[in-house]
Amino acid sequence: MSILKVSLQDKSYKIIIGNDSYLALKKELDKKNNYFIIADHNAFINHGKAFLKIMNKAPADMMFISGEKDKSLDKVEKILKRMADVNLTRSDVVVSFGGGVCGDIAGFCSSIYMRGINYYQVPTTLLAQVDSSVGGKTAVNLAEGKNLVGSFFQPSGVYINKLILDTLKNREIVCGKAEMIKTACIKDEVFIQELLEGKELVSEKYIKQCIDIKRIVVQNDQFDFGERMLLNFGHTIGHAIEAKKGYGKISHGEAIAIGMALITKMSEKYGFSEKGTYNQLIKLLKMHELPYEYTGNVLELFKYISNDKKNVNQLLHLILLKKMGKAYIHKIKLIRFYDMLGTI
Ligand SMILES: NC(=O)c1ccc[n+]([C@@H]2O[C@H](COP(=O)([O-])OP(=O)(O)OC[C@H]3O[C@@H](n4cnc5c(N)ncnc54)[C@H](O)[C@@H]3O)[C@@H](O)[C@H]2O)c1
Ligand SMILES: [Zn+2]
Repeated sequence: MSILKVSLQDKSYKIIIGNDSYLALKKELDKKNNYFIIADHNAFINHGKAFLKIMNKAPADMMFISGEKDKSLDKVEKILKRMADVNLTRSDVVVSFGGGVCGDIAGFCSSIYMRGINYYQVPTTLLAQVDSSVGGKTAVNLAEGKNLVGSFFQPSGVYINKLILDTLKNREIVCGKAEMIKTACIKDEVFIQELLEGKELVSEKYIKQCIDIKRIVVQNDQFDFGERMLLNFGHTIGHAIEAKKGYGKISHGEAIAIGMALITKMSEKYGFSEKGTYNQLIKLLKMHELPYEYTGNVLELFKYISNDKKNVNQLLHLILLKKMGKAYIHKIKLIRFYDMLGTI
């Protein structure tokens, strides 16, 4: 079992990784009167019984999440009412048992229930284990946009067990792999080298490596004003592809794989990335069954990019690779970006 510590003064917490990690959670829950589970439907069908057996104590109650459509204020209200109905207090805790969707809702509900109740993350998807379970970004969607309502609210602990991924669909594994490649691309040249040599990506070693990188980035920039933006590598174009194709038509992982490829093709062409970066990235994406080409005219993506509510004063914060394993923020006028996009 390995332990990583996210150091954020009074909001510090541990990430426990390994086959016995749920036993460590049980020890925490033993100290509490009550706990409330917010669980992903599929994760719970497959693993709920075994999980509860390890906890050896029934939760006060449970609520189930089934997909991105549940990331809504409507669902939040239902969950909060249920928490109140079973008299959950601030000395109790919430456990999120699911992927990024479940974690985002559970975190948000926890951040506002009685002005904040502690919660633990038990990530059950690869994406959640390598990325979303750490960092305390919580959110739900509005019709006006994804993740528009939320808060920064750090969990009190994160418990990762790779074995729980065995029942994940390949499509979801591929999604997580795209985020892992993204993480290696922005921060870790050694990791990149090992991946180019063909090392198995979905392993406990690399799950730990990715969440460790996320941990350090979050420690340096908890509220996303600087370094944390690096985690958006591939996402500016990726989100535009998701919006253009229609959510669900292309997976998030596939969209950001194409996003990483296009932005790197462009940045290498304009001398912002070292020569050869694009080819190395493509090699990695191909090795992991990820797409890298956009079928359509890339300029049709621009309107989705320019609509992004994160743009301030017509300025875009692009995340570019200096080379594989080293990313930086490049501020660029939207209009200039449009010109460059048109040439790739
Ligand atoms: N908070 C953050 O920092 C952050 C970072 C990245 C993404 N996100 C959010 O995460 C969400 C995507 O997360 P995701 O990719 O984990 O999707 P998800 O939570 O919807 O899970 C994907 C699918 O896997 C199923 N599933 C989950 N665990 C399973 C298991 N062990 N066995 C079988 N099936 C299982 C789910 O039912 C679902 O169908 C998005 O809403 C995104 O906005 C948040
Ligand atoms: Zn992502």
